[in-house]
Amino acid sequence: MQVDSKAIDKFLVELLTEVGTRLREDSIKKMSVATKKNRNDLVTNFDKKTEQFINGEIKQAYPDATIVSEEGYGDLVKDMSGLVFFVDPIDGTMNFVKRGDNFASMIAAYIDGEPLNGAIIDVMDNEIYHGGKEIGLFINDRKIDNPKNLPLVEGLVDVSAPMALANKFAVQDVIKKSSGFRVYGSAGIIFGHLLTGKEVMYMSYLAPWDLAAGRVMCEAAGMSVVSIDDAPINMLESQVVIVGTQKVVSEALKTLKTR
Ligand code: IPD
Ligand code: CA
Ligand code: CA
Repeated sequence: MQVDSKAIDKFLVELLTEVGTRLREDSIKKMSVATKKNRNDLVTNFDKKTEQFINGEIKQAYPDATIVSEEGYGDLVKDMSGLVFFVDPIDGTMNFVKRGDNFASMIAAYIDGEPLNGAIIDVMDNEIYHGGKEIGLFINDRKIDNPKNLPLVEGLVDVSAPMALANKFAVQDVIKKSSGFRVYGSAGIIFGHLLTGKEVMYMSYLAPWDLAAGRVMCEAAGMSVVSIDDAPINMLESQVVIVGTQKVVSEALKTLKTR
């Protein structure tokens, strides 16, 4: 299947620009908050409305594509053939509700299972990280260089709070070898930190829509994206993922206790 990565990039940037404008205006309107799996797994009327908007635009522009998305307005995607979009309408919903910043909206495109395009907007900072292997990486209109391949001892790491607190896979041993520990509460915001070299590793249990855009861009930036047992990433399942510089990911895999 022939696809134009540059055209998809332009489409994603225009779409996330509009999403950002709407969310910044919406966040002062009435928010209704409900819980999903537990009291800290939140969904708002804006998560739903944003996903409906994004998916509608994708279906109009790419009618043959399928969509994997978080809030239930996507397709039941059983395989990765053809053009597949991943949509996380608001990533960091807890931050959106409690703080009003440090949340993102993310879209990715994969072709026949291969990462093609990623786009993430830091909504309140109005910065869009976008691109892919074919076209390079950008923040808004500015092309960015790949981050340095730093070792663990020289960088900050981000591990999801539940995983770090429970010391899953003895992850605290990895944290102790680093320059320090940060927890931002939004995968999208953290992918921005990785792409700009502000942090060297992120480890979390991620759903496909949490990972898809960040994976495209981090791999394009020469970073490693692996599942905890070092198996190939499965984009249709949730899994524990480590994303980081090549040096840090290989050090982390040696340190973590995975069995
Ligand atoms: C969550 C955030 C969080 C990560 C969770 C995700 P959501 O996304 O990215 O940082 O630790 O695993 O589910 O639910 O706000 O879209
Ligand atoms: Ca979400
Ligand atoms: Ca998410």
